Amino acid sequence: MSKRQLHIQIFRYNLETPTKQPWTETFVIEEEMGMTLFIALNKIREEQDPSLSYDFVCRAGICGSCGMLINGKPALACKTLTKTLPTNISLMPLPVFKLLGDLSVDTGTWFRDISIRTESWIHTEKEFDPVAIEEQMSNDEALQIYEAERCIECGCCIGGCATANIKPDFIGAAGVNRVARFMVDPRDERTDQEYFDIVGSEDGIFGCIGLMACDDNCPVGIPLQGQLAYVRRKMAVAGWKIK
Ligand code: SF4
Ligand code: SF4
Ligand code: FES
Repeated sequence: MSKRQLHIQIFRYNLETPTKQPWTETFVIEEEMGMTLFIALNKIREEQDPSLSYDFVCRAGICGSCGMLINGKPALACKTLTKTLPTNISLMPLPVFKLLGDLSVDTGTWFRDISIRTESWIHTEKEFDPVAIEEQMSNDEALQIYEAERCIECGCCIGGCATANIKPDFIGAAGVNRVARFMVDPRDERTDQEYFDIVGSEDGIFGCIGLMACDDNCPVGIPLQGQLAYVRRKMAVAGWKIK
């Protein structure tokens, strides 16, 4: 069987020539067996255009660097096999994040800001005791924390989120997931009222319109629908008590 010719249309923008408008460029390559979009982009860069910008580190769906819009849907390029796509493929950078060039965006600054805004560390009054026996928690609590911690900070849930696309300060599903991680942690002594100050607003959980694109787009399958419902429920009760 003859190999397919892939027509890959890529968004182009160079930060060093800001007066030049973004454009799209189509590259034609021959599909190989087991080809991922990561392999396809490398082939284009090696054989056709060394200036093409995109981010990769692990090539195995672990580092979260290669999120992009693939035929309009946020996904990881290294985990997307070209055989699952039609021969015409469009690649765009993830929206919401700062564009660095072509398909490369700055997710790091966004996630650092979210960590600071959600105060992503254990809040406790207990003095640190280096010789104390490690505190125990139930298996259920440990599993809930583990589930939330699987986030690879790829930004796919943010890029595909309607609210995040129109409200730059919205914390998105990844931010809510971060809050949920600390809410279930028995070592964190914050009250629901204190969490309400962080996430009980239109830029937090109440800005979510609940259509669940985030849940569909998460490449590691974090149950974002459940995390959003959990935080919304707790914050609705906390908000009612404040009134
Ligand atoms: S459900 Fe909420 S967080 Fe998820 S994509 Fe929709 S608006 Fe964004
Ligand atoms: S929650 Fe999922 S989609 Fe969102 S940043 Fe984390 S891994 Fe990516
Ligand atoms: S390169 Fe690490 S997730 Fe794709």
